[in-house]
Amino acid sequence: MIRLFRATNFRCLEHAELTLADNFNLIYGANASGKTSLLEALAYLGRGKSFRGASTANLIRHGSDEFLLFGQAESLGRARSLGVRNSRSGLEVRVDGDSEGGAAALAEALPLQVIDPEVHNLVAGGPELRRRFLDWVAFHVEHEHLMAWRRFRRALKQRNAALKAKSAAATIRSWNAEFEALGAALDESRRRVLDVTLGSLKDFGLDLLGTELGFEYRQGWSRERSLHEALEEGMDRDLSLGATQHGPHRADLKISYDEKQARRLVSRGQQKLLASAMILAATETVQTALERPLLLLLDDPAAELDSDALARLMAAVAGLGCQVVATSLDSDLLGVPDGAAVFHVERGALTVIRAPQDNA
Ligand SMILES: Nc1ncnc2c1ncn2[C@@H]1O[C@H](COP(=O)(O)OP(=O)(O)OP(=O)(O)O)[C@@H](O)[C@H]1O
Ligand SMILES: [Mg+2]
Repeated sequence: MIRLFRATNFRCLEHAELTLADNFNLIYGANASGKTSLLEALAYLGRGKSFRGASTANLIRHGSDEFLLFGQAESLGRARSLGVRNSRSGLEVRVDGDSEGGAAALAEALPLQVIDPEVHNLVAGGPELRRRFLDWVAFHVEHEHLMAWRRFRRALKQRNAALKAKSAAATIRSWNAEFEALGAALDESRRRVLDVTLGSLKDFGLDLLGTELGFEYRQGWSRERSLHEALEEGMDRDLSLGATQHGPHRADLKISYDEKQARRLVSRGQQKLLASAMILAATETVQTALERPLLLLLDDPAAELDSDALARLMAAVAGLGCQVVATSLDSDLLGVPDGAAVFHVERGALTVIRAPQDNA
């Protein structure tokens, strides 16, 4: 939950400052007015990176050397201050004055999720986004996950470097034990995470698509083998490709649905609903675990959706009880609750149309 936000020289925002409502905030404005820029700035403050994968150089306002973001967040009755400075020489992060924690400290202080017009990629794109989806929940609900994930990535890198260098089998095998142990830890934490998220996934799937969905974790190697066996068996192939082909870095989350739904899911709008159901389920799971409301950023939720679908999405969002910042081309986005704070943006400048009311 974020109360006060300032962005300086971020994309088209020269200096934007806003006081946010705890429940619903609507930002409306014409094309290219700065709506996505504002949401991207908010997301950057909670992640230390762009949700669109944009490079720092593209995010710094043209003609400036750096961007600055600042926020006052609140978690469990405790005020937190977050700051990010990014210049071409690198990223600086501060949470409550401390610069040690990096992006993980931002994510811990301001957990957030994003539904934007690209969200359908979670369903239609490759497995990487679905792994990240599970890992985001795991990061927040499983204390050991981040450390295990970092150490696993290091072991994978080293094993791959040995494969690329065509090192002796004994050298490559010397990485296996760590790779297998950390791989197993990651695998188990993702399975637990899917387990606790499954109920919400099915509920939101039903709410948004009106159908029963199934979710199954694919671990990234054959189910008939242990990771150890898979590595042994795959050694020749790994060597010829110069990269490890089996392990949790190849995992996926398989989504299943009935035949009728499969035909409809060719449509972008249906994909967006399914992906949104997944994001809302993850948000609900983390929110329940952390016992505090999360921040949900909705960039142009109306895009690709008919009014029925948009109404269902907005109702599901409202039911979550998180803090929402949504953007829209017009001031009358369907499903915005009465009393929401409203801001207008024009050429990167914000005007308060209705100030936040009744913050706790
Ligand atoms: N680094 C930058 N410096 C200055 N301006 C930028 C930078 N990056 C993007 N812009 C400009 O910011 C403007 C606003 O972009 P933004 O994506 O925020 O618009 P938007 O309100 O979301 O529009 P739409 O309704 O089309 O989604 C665009 O004109 C874009 O060219
Ligand atoms: Mg936009």
